[in-house]
Amino acid sequence: MELKEVLRFADEKVFAKTGKHLDDLQEAILKETLQGRKYAAKVAKDRDCSEGYVRVAAAELWKLLSEVLGEEVSKVNVRAILERAKFYNSYSSAIDKNYGTVNHNLNICQEKARSPTPPQNPQQTPTQPHIDLGDAPEIFRFFDSLRDSFAARPSELSTLQNWITQQRTRLIALLGISGIGKTTLSLGLINQIKTGFDYVIYRSLRFSPTPEATLTNLLQIFPQPTETPQNIDTKISQLLNHLRNYRCLIVLDDVQMLFCSGQPPGEYKSECENYQLFFKLIAEVSHQSCLMLNSSEKPREFVRLEKEYHPVRSFELGSLGIAAIDILKSEKLSDEETWETLIDIYQGNPLWLELTATLIRELFGGSVAQFLQCEMPILDEGLQSQLSQQFQRLTPPELAVVTHFANLAEPVAVTYFFNKIPLSSSEIVNAVRSLRSRFLLDAMEEEKITLFSLNPVLRQYVQSRYLSN
Ligand SMILES: Nc1ncnc2c1ncn2[C@@H]1O[C@H](COP(=O)(O)OP(=O)(O)O)[C@@H](O)[C@H]1O
Ligand SMILES: [Mg+2]
Repeated sequence: MELKEVLRFADEKVFAKTGKHLDDLQEAILKETLQGRKYAAKVAKDRDCSEGYVRVAAAELWKLLSEVLGEEVSKVNVRAILERAKFYNSYSSAIDKNYGTVNHNLNICQEKARSPTPPQNPQQTPTQPHIDLGDAPEIFRFFDSLRDSFAARPSELSTLQNWITQQRTRLIALLGISGIGKTTLSLGLINQIKTGFDYVIYRSLRFSPTPEATLTNLLQIFPQPTETPQNIDTKISQLLNHLRNYRCLIVLDDVQMLFCSGQPPGEYKSECENYQLFFKLIAEVSHQSCLMLNSSEKPREFVRLEKEYHPVRSFELGSLGIAAIDILKSEKLSDEETWETLIDIYQGNPLWLELTATLIRELFGGSVAQFLQCEMPILDEGLQSQLSQQFQRLTPPELAVVTHFANLAEPVAVTYFFNKIPLSSSEIVNAVRSLRSRFLLDAMEEEKITLFSLNPVLRQYVQSRYLSN
């Protein structure tokens, strides 16, 4: 994306939110940062002021952009975030052109749904569902008219649609490593099946709201018979009443944020423990709705719930595969014959591919062939910071095991580590299991033995972050 375009976009966003354009100093800081340069000395010299003054202005600018764009912006990630936001924005404009009315904020539609596409499944009764997508990103990639630019996931969509509409699954966990496309897929799914519901609701739990807050928020969407109760049991039972009376699809995204960092995966923070009760009752009690949980860590209780209750399932989202060429196409990269190699190296992870595509455009003139001549894989700064957030969550035994994996060229069985790491066998077994629950280890069966490995991107990250001096 052109620097000028990104700058103009940032200015438009700031103006839309504050009624003020970026001033010259803010623009100079942003321009330098977007070009990957150290801004303080240059901007201070050009403007004849102190570096300290420029740094304070920069800190305020990142804060302003964080408010405007709805996520934490810093000098390291500003370019990636602006480009991503611009990307969503342009697709919203494309939809505007195609369908006329879609509001420009962050939602597909806040209140009563207008259904821009005809119902996809003729068996479903076409209704006018109440759609409330809260702060969902604006994603229109599953609309037929835009399919060229996006990698649809037809088989994943059809499995999930089948679970929800035919098998009446009450609780679904959509799982997978961060960036693999859970949010995108769940919004695509909503778009595809929304007409079969009375209520369609999406909420992100990225700020770890308490279950009380989430339930209050959900209850407010429905017609209110009485005041919202204080007590959690009553809140849950009121919600269950609604889930019985109406057919609802509720997606709770970023569920991993309910879990403790530095603890085994899927362990609830103390103030979030009651979510377990909420999810269990959704599975246990009879109703006609579906709750879908998106998470990059498998909730602990899921293994048991899946066994005990039929209408509970989990779906692990994997590589986008060859369909990811649509991402590279829309990023306007060249050397199409080499794209498959690039997709393989970056595990068909759409976020990893998007970040790498930006790097290829900026430093290699968009030539994938040239980029592949470097020692692979190369991890762009944005990708490293994204991975660092995930690795910060590991326990010390998980970290010890994962760093050992980074030195191995071949997949190994769990027993390989016994007596090689100063941990007991049970600590090793549990660490491998936890790394699997975080989708950081790949597994394969060979002659009835399960072998585990670290993919090349994660291996490279672990080597450079934890093993090099
Ligand atoms: N099917 C897809 N086609 C094209 N881009 C995708 C697809 N799925 C995800 N992406 C892109 O990858 C990035 C990460 O996707 P997201 O849904 O946020 O992942 P997750 O929720 O698993 O972290 C987003 O920028 C999104 O636009
Ligand atoms: Mg997500």
